[in-house]
Amino acid sequence: MVADPSPSSISPIFIVGLEGKVALITGGSSGIGESTARLFSKHGAKVVIADIQDELGHSVCKELNPQSTSFVHCDVTKEIDVENAVNHDVSKFGKLDIMYNNAGIVGVAKPNILDNTKAEFEQVASVNLVGAFLGTKHAARVMIPAKKGSIINTASVCSTIGGVASHGYTSSKHGVVGLMRNTAVELGQFGIRVNCVSPYLIATPLAKDFFKLDDDGVYRVYSNLKGEVLKPEDIAEAALYLGSDESKYVSGHNIVIDGGFTIVNLGFCMFTRS
Ligand SMILES: NC(=O)c1ccc[n+]([C@@H]2O[C@H](COP(=O)([O-])OP(=O)(O)OC[C@H]3O[C@@H](n4cnc5c(N)ncnc54)[C@H](O)[C@@H]3O)[C@@H](O)[C@H]2O)c1
Repeated sequence: MVADPSPSSISPIFIVGLEGKVALITGGSSGIGESTARLFSKHGAKVVIADIQDELGHSVCKELNPQSTSFVHCDVTKEIDVENAVNHDVSKFGKLDIMYNNAGIVGVAKPNILDNTKAEFEQVASVNLVGAFLGTKHAARVMIPAKKGSIINTASVCSTIGGVASHGYTSSKHGVVGLMRNTAVELGQFGIRVNCVSPYLIATPLAKDFFKLDDDGVYRVYSNLKGEVLKPEDIAEAALYLGSDESKYVSGHNIVIDGGFTIVNLGFCMFTRS
C-alpha cells in the first residue's frame, strides 16, 4: 500500500506553547523580563508583570493584550509585596503556572572588598537572592495545592564563575542556583519544577549602566562565540521552554546561555582568536 502523500494525511505538529497558562514575571518592566512577558503573551499565556517601575510596566501591558496582561507594583525585597503579587495573579487569572523570579540589580562596581559596604552587599543580595526566595516561597504556596508549576530564576554566568561582577552580585547569583537546587528537590514531590537561566552579557539598562556600554558596546566586550550577539529575546526563549510542558521532566538545571564563555580559560586557551 502506498502512503497517501497529500498534505491531509500528514499528522499536524502542534507547538504546545503556553496556551491556558498563567505567568508572573518579576522585573518584567524592562530588559529580559519585558522580553519574556512579550514572548509568553505571544505564545498564549496570561501574564502578570511585577516590578517597581510602574509606568514602564503599565505601558508594556497596554501594548500587549490588556485582557490577558496585568501589572502589579512589587518590590521583591518586601514579602508583603511578593505575597500580594501572587494573590493579585490568582485573583485576576485564577491560578499560577509559571513563576519567573527575574528581578535583579547589579550593585556598585568596587573591585576592592575593603571599599565594599555591608549595606551595598545586602542590597544586592536582598533583590537578587531574597527576592528569588520570596518569589519561590509564595509561588509554592499556590502551586503545591495545584500539584504542578514551573519556577524559573534568572541567575547569571556569575553563578558559575568569579571575577566578572561585584562580590554582592556574584555571591547572590551563586545563591540563586543553590536556592533553585534545594527547592527543586523539595518541590518535585508536588510536581513543581524549578530551574535557572544564566545569561552572559546583554545590553539591557542593568548591564549598560554597570559596564558603561553604549547600545552597541556589547560588541567590544569579550565573547567566545562570534557572529551572534546575545539578546533579551534569547533568554526569553529559554524561559519559554522551561515554562512550557515541552520541558516537563526538566528540573534542577541551571541553563547557561553564554556562547561557551564560562567553559573557556583564556590563560590556557590553545585556540587563536581574531
Ligand atoms: N543584562 C545582563 O547582562 C545580565 C546577565 C546575567 C544576568 N542578568 C540578570 O537578568 C535579570 C534581569 O536583568 P536585565 O538585564 O533585564 O536588567 P533590567 O535593568 O533591564 O531589568 C531589571 C528589572 O528588575 C526590576 N527591579 C529591580 N529591583 C527590583 C525590585 N526590588 N523589585 C522588583 N523589581 C525590581 C527593574 O525595575 C527592572 O525592570 C537580573 O536578575 C540580572 O541580574 C542580566
